[in-house]
Amino acid sequence: MMYFGACYYPEHWTPDQAKNHIPYMKRAGINVVRMGEFAWSHFEPEQSRYRFEWMDTTIQALHKEGIATVLCTPTCIPPQWAVVKHPGMLQRDAEGRVRNAGSRCHCCKNAPEYQMLSDRIVEQMARHYADMPGIIGWQTDNEFGCHNSTRCYCDHCLAAFRDWLLEKYKDTDTINQAWGTAFWGFEFQQWNEIPLPRHMPAGNNPSHWLDFVRFSSDTQVKFQQSQFELLKQLCPKHFVTHNFMGRFPDIDYYKLAQFTDFPSWDNYPESGSDPFLPAYQHEITRSFTGKFWVMEQKSGPTGDSETGLLGEQPEQGEIRRWTWQAIANGADGVCYFRWRACLSGAEQYWHGILDHDGVQRRRYAEISKTAQEVAKFGNLFAGSTVDTPAAILRSYPLLWSVERQPGAAGFHYDDHCYEIYRAVKRTGHNCDFVNIDGDLSKYKVVFAPCLCLVDKKLADKLDAFAQAGGTVVFTPQSGARTPSNTMWAYPRPGALTAMAGLTVEEVRPYHHGQTEAIEPAGDRSPVPPATVAKWVEVLACKEAQPVAQFAGGRLKEKCAAARNACGKGMVYYLGVYLPAEAMAAFAAAVLPAFPIADIPENVEIARRTGKQGSYMFVINHGSQSEVITLPHALAELITGEKAGPEVKIARNGVLIFKT
Ligand code: GAL
Repeated sequence: MMYFGACYYPEHWTPDQAKNHIPYMKRAGINVVRMGEFAWSHFEPEQSRYRFEWMDTTIQALHKEGIATVLCTPTCIPPQWAVVKHPGMLQRDAEGRVRNAGSRCHCCKNAPEYQMLSDRIVEQMARHYADMPGIIGWQTDNEFGCHNSTRCYCDHCLAAFRDWLLEKYKDTDTINQAWGTAFWGFEFQQWNEIPLPRHMPAGNNPSHWLDFVRFSSDTQVKFQQSQFELLKQLCPKHFVTHNFMGRFPDIDYYKLAQFTDFPSWDNYPESGSDPFLPAYQHEITRSFTGKFWVMEQKSGPTGDSETGLLGEQPEQGEIRRWTWQAIANGADGVCYFRWRACLSGAEQYWHGILDHDGVQRRRYAEISKTAQEVAKFGNLFAGSTVDTPAAILRSYPLLWSVERQPGAAGFHYDDHCYEIYRAVKRTGHNCDFVNIDGDLSKYKVVFAPCLCLVDKKLADKLDAFAQAGGTVVFTPQSGARTPSNTMWAYPRPGALTAMAGLTVEEVRPYHHGQTEAIEPAGDRSPVPPATVAKWVEVLACKEAQPVAQFAGGRLKEKCAAARNACGKGMVYYLGVYLPAEAMAAFAAAVLPAFPIADIPENVEIARRTGKQGSYMFVINHGSQSEVITLPHALAELITGEKAGPEVKIARNGVLIFKT
């Protein structure tokens, strides 16, 4: 079933104010609401005195109208009595300052009192709501890590970090070795000498830092795990999800997603911003389990809780386009944030479907129209999958390692992954994301951007994928570091050298805008002429054949990119960051051909395949109408007519073809 809903806060409204909400939700076509994530103080006004009737009445009234409920555990904000009683559960930042109560995300997940109180409210709610008609699932907490809260530097975290390290390293010799603590005299004799990487005068040890970041991510995952297991045990009929934040970097979402039935995420695109960024985050979120929801979809102007600035109004047609974009990329549910703008609090400027006055205006009408379309066609796609020959190996420890030492000024691992994603997407193919321990067998091409943390196991796995006929693409900085974030004492790309058939002779960061021209080399090179910036590597080919060389200057005719036949497959090593156009040409050359050529830049194509067939979505994100050429005429769902081969697609237009 395809879910179409809104986030709703019954605790914000008096019964009198709320009385029209549910009939208007029904009229808008809403079939699910999400509630309760910030309402702990309403559920438990005093320790162990629980009050659920206000929520029960709302759930029952919704159910009567055929609207389902996703209930949240409210652990993101403990009641004020709990904070006053246990001030030690407040987080501390790297400089030792307390993160005070009054907003949200201020509690430390390693604080025993917070863990105990959280477990208790989750258990009480799970027992109370396990069999209540209308409830279909749970969202745990809200956006773990939001407002910079993943990493806490309090004494509870210090103790927990030392325990985490003890389990990983067992003794001081091993940790000294793994972190290379001989540098700057950081060697430990006793376990209790190990600190947190709190604020310090110069750069911290990258291995110490990477383990702290891993530990902080694991802390969030452990908190999720305990709620997930409790909810699955007490509410076996309900699904459990959590609202992720797309490309948010601080938590290893592969690990977090293991403790959900499927992840959700919160999508707040800005009008006029890159329309493919939401697609990137839809596909990242889908890739964790194969299924996802958008739990919060922007439906009105944003209103920043700190600056108080009001964001832009979504343009006519944008909300519908964003909704279909989510479904096209695999969403089985979309909930708008939020039903109605609230009248008080830090987000009183953050709008929803309805403004503060509750009047149904343009956005309500657009959402109602979208709801009708989704109700008519959505179930054709719900539960279906997205098939693609392409995957990007995107890993959080890699991201963290590059965040600490990007090498080139302005280089961001995730932006680089996005550039490759955008190039794949321009071919018409969807793209999956896989972790370093993920299954590669269903892909034809795996891009492994900036694969700097490598050991033999990972190298062997990629080698086996290529030997069996796959194509692997490496980009600069690959193979340089160990999984502990120290440097290998071998030529780059270290453990990848044999499969790449080359070594890196020299690396050159270009911090001040310098560029190099490159040109194709060898027969049928997939690399077009281009100007590259930020960072270049000079490659020394052994078995590999050059596919690009530097076109002039000091590096003239030296190798910039090469390919190496590896068993039945092929390995590319790009020693430069290809700019967008060149990357798009490269992706088109190495991926299987897509049935539509010359896709206009602002047109997105996505495909879902399920029991009821395969569907191709064509979405125009641009500011004018566009034309695409289908391989032959196809039936279009929304208009109910046959279209093509040449098809015009209006601004904000969405077409769905049965293929
Ligand atoms: C999300 C969050 C919501 C709300 C919304 C608008 O990040 O989950 O609770 O704050 O943003 O700011």
